[in-house]
Amino acid sequence: MPVVAVIHEAPRPTWSSRRLLEAARARGHRARYVLVQYLSGTVAGGCAVTYRGSCLELDGAIVRAIGRFPSLETLLKRVGVLAHMVDEGVPAVNHPLSLLAARDKYTSLRLLASSGVPVPRTLVTEDPYEALHAIERWGRAVIKPIAGTMGLGSFMVDDVDEAYRVLELIATLRQPIYVQEYVEKKGNRDIRAFVVGDRVVAAAYRVAPSGAWKTNVARGARTEPAPVTPELEELAVRAARSVGLCYAGVDVAETVDGRYVVFEVNAAPLWRGLYEATGVDPAPFIVELLEDMIKGRRDYRDCGLRG
Ligand SMILES: Nc1ncnc2c1ncn2[C@@H]1O[C@H](COP(=O)(O)OP(=O)(O)O)[C@@H](O)[C@H]1O
Ligand SMILES: [Mg+2]
Repeated sequence: MPVVAVIHEAPRPTWSSRRLLEAARARGHRARYVLVQYLSGTVAGGCAVTYRGSCLELDGAIVRAIGRFPSLETLLKRVGVLAHMVDEGVPAVNHPLSLLAARDKYTSLRLLASSGVPVPRTLVTEDPYEALHAIERWGRAVIKPIAGTMGLGSFMVDDVDEAYRVLELIATLRQPIYVQEYVEKKGNRDIRAFVVGDRVVAAAYRVAPSGAWKTNVARGARTEPAPVTPELEELAVRAARSVGLCYAGVDVAETVDGRYVVFEVNAAPLWRGLYEATGVDPAPFIVELLEDMIKGRRDYRDCGLRG
């Protein structure tokens, strides 16, 4: 019986992790919940990857989280040990290097843009004055943490004095500044398109609470089913592939003048809100995709990973 792991940092499986464990069991796998912090790597001796001191015996893995606030060193260790595992022949989705790229809003946005995916104008800098000039040019902008998630820590600014205070603070903390033009979203909502492999298995509108501009479910947005048009599917799959993701949650907004714009791709999206809106649980699709990887019917190049 194949052994499949769901890898995370949280001591207890989240709702989405539980869906994956159940889906794997329903498809005849032995499913294990593995904590990333207890994985160790050995170079030039014995078993390459161990879990709590014993050799890790796995056929495949679904990596759900590599840590919420790890230090750079911890992040390198975790990505390294997962990459080691993949090199030893255990496929993991998403690939640890793509997880790392997706976590970095700058690198992932650049990869999206170079694949022809429309993204907002964005500046990454350590110079608060450069950022201030960009905000003056754009009129209204969003300042985001370069590795943020769930809408936490982003500010919308349209006042130069206010912007200056925020930028000064970021510079004092010696953090890079990621600043983006503000995009007026049609209906104050965006679309979360859930990509698994070559298709969008479900899509949901995320409507921001009134007076708010963020559409994260974690920030109180409401979800509604959204139609998966061929145009949306093509765009979302292209977005996921540009970052080398085998499955992804793609944040797509429709602008008031009728264009699509992609804010980001999420490498380990949660899907409770999407499930409640659409009735579609992506978990069995993700497990099926992993099975294809284990059986060699699909490889990372099919997910757009280069090299
Ligand atoms: N440039 C922007 N213009 C308008 N709204 C934005 C912009 N960037 C992000 N948002 C809104 O904020 C939400 C969170 O931003 P996002 O880049 O997806 O970061 P996070 O990782 O925190 O989800 C988006 O889903 C979108 O609703
Ligand atoms: Mg997002």
